[in-house]
Amino acid sequence: MSDAIERNISMELARATEAAALGAVPWTGRGDKNGADGGAVDAMRAMLNTIDIDGVVVIGEGEKDEAPMLFNGERVGSGAGPEVDIAVDPIDGTTLLSLGRANAVSVIAAAARGAMYNPRDIFYMEKIAVGPEARGRIDLAAPVRWNLEQVARARGIPLTEVTVTLLDRPRNDALVAEIRDAGARIISITDGDVAGAVMAGMDGTGVDVLLGIGGSPEGVSAACAMKALDGDMQCRLWPRHDGDRALADERGLDLDRVLTLDDLVAGDDCYFALTGITTGYLLRGVEVTRSGARTHSLVMRGRTRTIRTIEAEHHTHKVERYLSPE
Ligand code: FBP
Repeated sequence: MSDAIERNISMELARATEAAALGAVPWTGRGDKNGADGGAVDAMRAMLNTIDIDGVVVIGEGEKDEAPMLFNGERVGSGAGPEVDIAVDPIDGTTLLSLGRANAVSVIAAAARGAMYNPRDIFYMEKIAVGPEARGRIDLAAPVRWNLEQVARARGIPLTEVTVTLLDRPRNDALVAEIRDAGARIISITDGDVAGAVMAGMDGTGVDVLLGIGGSPEGVSAACAMKALDGDMQCRLWPRHDGDRALADERGLDLDRVLTLDDLVAGDDCYFALTGITTGYLLRGVEVTRSGARTHSLVMRGRTRTIRTIEAEHHTHKVERYLSPE
């Protein structure tokens, strides 16, 4: 075990995703993405700073769309504990939340200092994620049909029963055609491919594979979950245009390289927490109750592969500071 991290910090990270979910939920359906991000970020930052970690945000969110953010390079935690890299996504599915739709979640991943791949300014990646049965049997560079056949064989089901989830984007249209041509099923999501990857990794979610081009920060966060879930994941940076190609060149990022799960997050000292904001495929969202609010979270630890689901009751005196958007 790394000297740096000897305790399970995922339980504490869940307090920060719970806070972000509580901070985000007042913005449900208000059509204000920045307001929602602000509510979630402020709550997440305040809670993160009470945790005994010496954290650095290596994967923040916001630069892509100039939203409020936990900045890359920002120090988080009390500074007293283990040195960790942090990937934050206070709301994965900001559009979903601002439009009052299902499936918005809050996510934090942590790993030993230096363990997380940093995609820097290349904001998109091609992704494949699968559960434990198909671990070691996928290859992002191989045809889609081949990968789906591998999953079917590993799961002991016909290809027609393999269910793929992917983001509904024009850039994924060719992939949709290939998946249909192979005969597999599709659950199309309009946002939120961290939860999509987690569903592919977990048993009983009805999803066997995550495919398609989605956000790079989300790819690295999801990789921490895939370690704990004993699943597998591969990604490849996806340049949108020549500007991205030039940037990748400048930053020394190889656009042809298939990143393995170990490239995305090295070692097993990784932690992942996810809290539902609006009810979705994976988890229920924040439920406002007479005495406060109830949250539903998943917390995971890479080293022990322990997955916990946590239902928390938050008393009014604690949540009232979150539950008003002003
Ligand atoms: P945010 O809500 O954090 O912006 O991300 C939502 C999301 O759907 C991610 O889950 C996904 O990886 C990414 O956006 C895809 O990017 P885009 O919406 O630009 O296609």
